[in-house]
Amino acid sequence: MKILVIHGPNLNILGYRSKKHYGDKTLDELNSMIVNKAHELKYEVDIFQSDYEGDILGKLHVALRGEYDGVIINAGAYTHYSIAIRDAIEALEVPVIEVHLSNIYGREEFRKTSVIAPVCSGQITGFGPYSYILALEAFKNLK
Ligand code: DQA
Repeated sequence: MKILVIHGPNLNILGYRSKKHYGDKTLDELNSMIVNKAHELKYEVDIFQSDYEGDILGKLHVALRGEYDGVIINAGAYTHYSIAIRDAIEALEVPVIEVHLSNIYGREEFRKTSVIAPVCSGQITGFGPYSYILALEAFKNLK
């Protein structure tokens, strides 16, 4: 099982940004948690972060070529308006799980809409770094 994890814009400044919503773990610390859990589950994992929509699309297109068995994506603010990311996810044949550190339904109105949710297998939101751990666990029962 090979999983691609995509972190979208501003997730590189975790640990410094709005700690009330995102906690104080840095992206490196979050990635270590992801790698440890992936090893425990005997998955291979590739982790990618970009602030740029086109780079995220490029990585999703790699997944389209069959390199991965599943994708976990925190699209950051793109979640709320990127039809391009939604279309790229929709094209994939492998399961895609949407994750968020904060509970997007407990915040501003504009965050309550996820344009990618309808084309993902499911959404995990509000558990901080554990959202990613829960997503890795979910792959055990998805195909
Ligand atoms: C986020 C929630 C988004 O609304 C926000 O733009 C982010 C992070 C989260 O993980 O809680 O950048 O995706």
